Amino acid sequence: MDKLRIRGGRTLRGTVRVSGAKNAVLPALAAALLTDGELTLHNVPRVHDVTTMFRVLEHLGAEGIVEDGNSCRVRVRSLRGPEAPYDLVRKMRASVLVLGPLVARFGRARVSLPGGCAIGERPIGMHLSALRSLGATIDLAHGYVDASAGRLVGAAITFDQKTVTGTENILMAASLAAGTTTLRNCALEPEVVDLASLLTKMGARIGGAGTDVITIEGVDSLSGAEHTIVPDRIEAGTFIMAGILAGGDVTVEMCRPEQLAAPLDRLRAAGARLEIDGERVHVTGGADLTGRDIITAPYPGFATDLQAQFMTVMTQARGFAVITEAIFENRFMHVSELKRMGADISHDGRRAVIKGPTPLAGAQVMATDLRASACLVLAGLIGEGWTELNRVYHIDRGYERIEEKLLALGAEIERVS
Ligand code: EPU
Repeated sequence: MDKLRIRGGRTLRGTVRVSGAKNAVLPALAAALLTDGELTLHNVPRVHDVTTMFRVLEHLGAEGIVEDGNSCRVRVRSLRGPEAPYDLVRKMRASVLVLGPLVARFGRARVSLPGGCAIGERPIGMHLSALRSLGATIDLAHGYVDASAGRLVGAAITFDQKTVTGTENILMAASLAAGTTTLRNCALEPEVVDLASLLTKMGARIGGAGTDVITIEGVDSLSGAEHTIVPDRIEAGTFIMAGILAGGDVTVEMCRPEQLAAPLDRLRAAGARLEIDGERVHVTGGADLTGRDIITAPYPGFATDLQAQFMTVMTQARGFAVITEAIFENRFMHVSELKRMGADISHDGRRAVIKGPTPLAGAQVMATDLRASACLVLAGLIGEGWTELNRVYHIDRGYERIEEKLLALGAEIERVS
């Protein structure tokens, strides 16, 4: 199993280019199931979750997916079988995104229930009840969701709570339903908007994406399309925080700073020196940081996917910072690893209190999820001596060539097999 070895203390300088968003490309790939036309996607990050989604689509019937650098072409002319099996879904919960498209186009789906993961229980009840509202019959048995339907029929649906993949699943399903669907309390994430923009290119009639209420007028069929995936705001935020901690002078380019308004505000409030210039953020390191509190929230609030990385920054800030994780019930698995590196953190339930600044010391650490791994890489960049990050497969799920990008900025980092 691969490890990342990082020697802390190098100053980062230079420009890093952000890849396409993992959480936008996964629903975009699932949308290939909605049409017998070809989908061409650009700015596709080469990360393991994308490979897993390719495997899911092939299992369902995609023929000869063509990968060409950061572009890919996918076509699903017909269904080989309606099942997304346990072995694939357990690797990646986002496989559940095939549920809506399968029922909408083929009238049946059998998708393994994702179950919990390291960061929480993560139920999919809202996906299922919304599909039922569109007319699908859903049975849960033997760890699988079995869904069937004639043509789905548009309905008025209010999500109990904001759900990103839930909104995406139903947006896709409703695009092929008969009549109009109104979705209320939708997720506002840029990845939802990117999916709506792809679906619109495919012929869907969608209004209001990016707001609480999305209206979809169902169409009889959708066609192939070509689309460029939005930049990954979480990867951008991670490199911005690397620049705050270990820069010199770092420019993060090809990002959408407006999609990072909440985290950039909090980082500025903590004293970080950031300058926005169009699609770039310039970061000058070495600032005196002061502890600032955050509460994670659905977009446009502070993203839970940047909570762990922010915690590493707060270990270097003067005073106290209180981090409240309001989205997932167990997303503090990085706390104990940061403490092993010397951080002063106490945590109780959904709240962590960080007292800083504390010097960090390199250590052997282990991550339990993607963003926790990223926070430990950041810690490794400033830790004294070597940090060895085990279970690198977590980071490979969602960060494209992270060690190459950091190396190019001047970090001392290597992958060891
Ligand atoms: N929830 C329910 N019932 C549901 C669906 C969600 O109770 O039917 C709860 C969840 O347990 C959670 C909250 O609603 O407490 C929000 O979860 P959401 O459904 O929005 O999360 P998700 O769609 O499963 C996506 C991202 C996650 C990101 C979250 C929150 C993708 C593929 N995944 O997950 O990304 O953390 O939204 O922003 O888009 C990551 O990239 O590291 C990652 C975990």
